[in-house]
Amino acid sequence: MEAVIKIRNLYKSFGTNEVLKNINLTLNKGENIVILGRSGIGKSVLAKCIVGLLQFDKGSIEIFNQDISSLSSDELDGIRKKMGYLFQGGALYDSKTVRENLEFPLQRSRFAEADNIDTNTRVEEVLENVGLLDAQHKMPAELSGGMKKRVGLARTLILQPEIIFYDEPTTGLDPVTSKEISQLMVRVQNKYKTSSLIITHDLKCAKTTANNIKLLRNGNFYAEGTYNELENSEDEVVKQYFN
Ligand SMILES: Nc1ncnc2c1ncn2[C@@H]1O[C@H](COP(=O)(O)OP(=O)(O)OP(=O)(O)O)[C@@H](O)[C@H]1O
Ligand SMILES: [Mg+2]
Repeated sequence: MEAVIKIRNLYKSFGTNEVLKNINLTLNKGENIVILGRSGIGKSVLAKCIVGLLQFDKGSIEIFNQDISSLSSDELDGIRKKMGYLFQGGALYDSKTVRENLEFPLQRSRFAEADNIDTNTRVEEVLENVGLLDAQHKMPAELSGGMKKRVGLARTLILQPEIIFYDEPTTGLDPVTSKEISQLMVRVQNKYKTSSLIITHDLKCAKTTANNIKLLRNGNFYAEGTYNELENSEDEVVKQYFN
């Protein structure tokens, strides 16, 4: 199997607050890993270290077999362009239509340089994939929370990332919409062969999307396995998360 992210012995503290203590993780191509853990335990900090929004103290992170600490900022930019993020809230441009929200990142992307890029086709394809082709001329204010999430996902997908980070993709959504988003994440994985790191508190989302689940506790991974393995674990700590 081909690893797209390899984290070895990663440490990250803020003053005396030792958030990450010896994290090891391998994300393989085409795999979805879900990270579970209590609020404030360090899930977002881990994601931010990987994408370069936070500097870590010790250890190494390799992305596409390149040690990110040894790269120039240009090389790092090249790697970042192959990664997509779906942050909470979606962060759409309020004054742009759905369609314009998708065209904008495309104009500024690595694809912009290739003059034969067909923006219309690309925009319509991703909107179709998230089931929002009919809403392309709507403003964000006219969309529901779930629709905004789907536009956010469409905007991530339009740049054809090889790795996607999802931070709480279903938070604040009703169970039916959460299920739709989770299923959409799996469809994206299958269709585009993307690899994903998914941070969530939503066990149903984890069950639908995860090939592998890691439970973050006290700075490192306390347990890992498939949903079924963890759900049937006899460990008292693991049980707390699955009841
Ligand atoms: N920039 C920062 N400066 C100082 N401390 C930080 C910073 N970012 C995060 N922390 C601390 O790191 C710890 C982990 O935070 P993090 O945001 O990763 O939690 P989380 O697991 O994502 O929680 P949640 O589920 O609530 O999103 C917390 O104690 C937080 O206060
Ligand atoms: Mg968080």
